[in-house]
Parts: sequence; structure tokens; C-alpha cells
Amino acid sequence: MNECTQIMGYDLYQGNSFQVLEEEFDKNSIHAVVTDPPYSVIEFETAHVEKMRDGKGGVWRIPPELDGNKRKPLPRFTVLTEDDKDKLRNFFKQFGEAVERVLRPGGHVFVACTQLLMHEVSQQLDEAGLERRDVLIRETKTLRGGDRPKGAHDHPEYKMVSSMPRVYWEPWLLYRKPFDRRLDENLGEWQTGGLRRESDERPFTDLLGNGKTPKEETEIVKNAHPGGEEEVEAHPNLKPQKLMRELCHAALPLREGTILDPFMGSGSTIAAAYALGYDAVGIELDETFYEMAQNAIPNLAEVPTEIEKRDDVEEHRTQSRSLSDFSN
Ligand SMILES: C[S@@+](CC[C@H](N)C(=O)[O-])C[C@H]1O[C@@H](n2cnc3c(N)ncnc32)[C@H](O)[C@@H]1O
Repeated sequence: MNECTQIMGYDLYQGNSFQVLEEEFDKNSIHAVVTDPPYSVIEFETAHVEKMRDGKGGVWRIPPELDGNKRKPLPRFTVLTEDDKDKLRNFFKQFGEAVERVLRPGGHVFVACTQLLMHEVSQQLDEAGLERRDVLIRETKTLRGGDRPKGAHDHPEYKMVSSMPRVYWEPWLLYRKPFDRRLDENLGEWQTGGLRRESDERPFTDLLGNGKTPKEETEIVKNAHPGGEEEVEAHPNLKPQKLMRELCHAALPLREGTILDPFMGSGSTIAAAYALGYDAVGIELDETFYEMAQNAIPNLAEVPTEIEKRDDVEEHRTQSRSLSDFSN
């Protein structure tokens, strides 16, 4: 029996996604997956998470303070060994197969990724029988890449060199479970297969102009930490509500169905679904992050963004859930 808590009417499971999906979810039961998985897999292994929490690094790089401000740890994907990459392939093979089973035909999968590993992830999703549809670009200026060579201060001739580009966008792979009929027929039977338009005039586009997670949202997650008064950190990969609501909005073409996040972290996808009035279900392995999600989701769901102010969302929300329904 997998541990499950209900928050605001949503099932949140604590456990390994692959096991939970196998034991708790029927074939063809989920309408869309919106998720930000552990990119390199090993960064969320217990030993590396403990190192990150102790400020010691491991696969996490703790960047130096900038203007007296502490910066978030970043996982280093350039240090992965061939063994690490095999683990990654195996992990995304399991992910692809699990998702292919639970999704309805035509259900979309949005997967946050990273430039260095997206080909590996993509290959596993292709092999699991999912259909590649696009790579969405989330514009976001990060502090990844752009570094000068080590010791460059002793070599003025290296001053104008950096090893890699500074990363200013984040890829989101977009996949779909195949179906063998016309889109209108699939929408009729499964309510899936298409993407919801932004408006009558404008379709959903693959350029997500978004930016960083606002401080207000990071503070919500920090305050949700079960460590209370101690020096605690927010989830290192918290995604912004504006982005997650934009993706969840696109994910359900008829505004019907359930969105799954099998790597929920601190719950940004679930909060976004709630803000839009959608059903959602989340799974998280780590006990601390799981508790943070339970505490953070109601507050993240209340953060105002422009997405849920769209006319069709307002109307839909009043017909389904109300934000004053918080029950925890
Ligand atoms: C990149 S983070 C997601 C962060 C999330 N987007 C947010 O806004 O907080 C990935 C999460 O997957 C969790 N995770 C790793 N392996 C898992 C597994 N096998 N099953 C469930 N969760 C897992 C990690 O503990 C981590 O919190």
C-alpha cells in the first residue's frame, strides 16, 4: 500500500513513481503528464541530496555568493560518467513505459529537460512508443555555463574565453501517446490529442517567455519546509506558477481530465492545476519535499498570474473548484 495524503481533494503519493504508477493507476487513466524530472537522476539520490542540504556539493555545485546573496545549488551535468548515463537511460526507459501505459491515447507529456541530456531522454521516450511533437523553449537566464577556464586570472590570454555558452533557455520536451484516428474523433472518445489554444486568435506556441521563479514563490516553499525555524532552503528546482499554469492550460484541450506529475517536488504543477480548476495527482519520493509540497500547494495556488485571468479559465474555475475550497 503506497502512502497517500489528500490535499485540497488531490491525491499526493509518497513513494517511487514507477511503483506507485504500476500499483495505483489503471491503463489509459491519465489525460496529461506535466513534469520536471530529476534530469541526471543521480542528483536526487539520497547521498547527493544530503550533500546538497549540507552545502557540501557532490554532483551539486554550490555557486559562490553574489553581492552577499546566497545562490541556489545547481546540478553539474558535465561530470556524469558512462555509468551515470546508463542509470539515466534506464530511469527514462522506465518513465517512458510507465507513462505510455497510464496515458490515454492522445495524452500529452511535457518534460522539463536540459540541453546536455535531452537527446538521451528523448531516445528513451521514442523507444517507449511515445511520439515526439516539439521542444518548447522556456526563456530563462541561468548562471549555468559561460565560465572562464580555471586559472584564467593567471593567463590574460584566456580572459576572453568561456568553456560553454551561458544558458539562457530551458528545453521542455513535448511528447504524445499515439492514436490511430482523426483528432476530432480522439477528442470525442478520450478528450485528448490536441493542445488548448491561448485564445481564439492565438494557438499555444512553443516559445514560453517566462523568466525566473519569483521570490514570493520561493519564500512560500521555504516556509513550507518541515524544518520550521532552522536554516532551510526551498526546493532547488521550484518552477514558476506562471510557467506551470501556461503548460497545464495547454495540456487539457477540452479542460477535462487529470494531470499527473510523477516527480512533484514541492508541488508547483499541482498548485498550477488547482489554480486552473483542473484535477491533478502528484508523486514524490523524498519525505521532506513531500511534506513541503503538502504545505506549499495551497499557498502557491493562490499566487496571482495572468494565465488564470484568461476569460475561459475564470469561467471554468467558477464551474469547477473554487480557490476558497482549501481543506487542509
Ligand atoms: C526536478 S525536481 C521537481 C521540482 C518541481 N518541479 C518543483 O517545482 O518543486 C524532481 C523531483 O523528483 C523526485 N524524485 C526523484 N526520483 C523519484 C522517483 N523515482 N519517484 C518519485 N519522485 C522522484 C526528487 O526528489 C525531486 O523532488
